[in-house]
Amino acid sequence: MSSVTVPVAESPTRALAPVVSARNLRVNYGAVRALDGVDFHVSPGEVVALLGHSGSGKSTLMKALTQMAPATADELRIGDTDVLAQRGKDLRELRARVGNIFQHFNLVPNLSALSNVLTGGLYGAGPSNLVGLFPRRQRARALELLDWVGLEDKARQQTRTLSGGQQQRVAIARALMQDPELILADEPVASLDPRLAGSVLALLRRIARERDIPVIVSLHVVDLARRHADRVIGLHSGLVLYEGPAADVDDDVVVAIYGEGGEFDDSDAGA
Ligand SMILES: Nc1ncnc2c1ncn2[C@@H]1O[C@H](COP(=O)(O)OP(=O)(O)OP(=O)(O)O)[C@@H](O)[C@H]1O
Ligand SMILES: [Mg+2]
Repeated sequence: MSSVTVPVAESPTRALAPVVSARNLRVNYGAVRALDGVDFHVSPGEVVALLGHSGSGKSTLMKALTQMAPATADELRIGDTDVLAQRGKDLRELRARVGNIFQHFNLVPNLSALSNVLTGGLYGAGPSNLVGLFPRRQRARALELLDWVGLEDKARQQTRTLSGGQQQRVAIARALMQDPELILADEPVASLDPRLAGSVLALLRRIARERDIPVIVSLHVVDLARRHADRVIGLHSGLVLYEGPAADVDDDVVVAIYGEGGEFDDSDAGA
């Protein structure tokens, strides 16, 4: 497999300190090298798409950022925090600074959209939350966020009655309720039809642009990464085979990341 190196474009945010920096990040599961020494950074306000076949290490990379995978690294930082040095309460605090968005939304189906969003603020809000008494300012903020994601009229509705796209918007509002420094979205549109996929990714992009929160998003469709990400990291067998602007992901880059069969050929997945 050839590797393609494309110079990273100067972006306006590049002079700012990175939100995430990783050097020689490794994760082994027994004999499986899920991440085999990867280097990357994420700058304020950018959307970074992870591409690669099933088993290439996308989810593992995201999990490693909050010690949800057994990682080692020469350097792994979120802001000024040394991720791998955190334990106990410090680790819980670090995790609360990172918002997660999942393929299957992970909402509580019998709770209202508003209650689901409020759970995003649980860590920071003190003991009243333990009995379900959210302070008024938290409820106001949750309603504001539901408004921002376009669901102001669904606040009282149980999330199981919402469409997939609407449920993912609730999950995004819940992540924002944490006031995160970083958002990790692991295949957030894999369960959505293409039109909804575009609108959810556009919303993630607005989060990066308007709120200056960088987003790392794993995707299975190259074209979605081209349209909605600033930068692409292409993984294969735990190695970075491409890192560069999303706009430069052409056929050669697709072959470099996925092999000759392209993105929809999983025959060498995990190889
Ligand atoms: N908890 C685990 N225990 C053992 N092996 C694991 C574990 N999690 C992941 N792996 C292995 O690590 C490698 C990378 O997996 P990972 O889930 O990161 O891939 P991925 O790129 O997210 O794939 P997909 O596109 O299918 O989600 C795979 O070989 C996988 O089988
Ligand atoms: Mg995955």
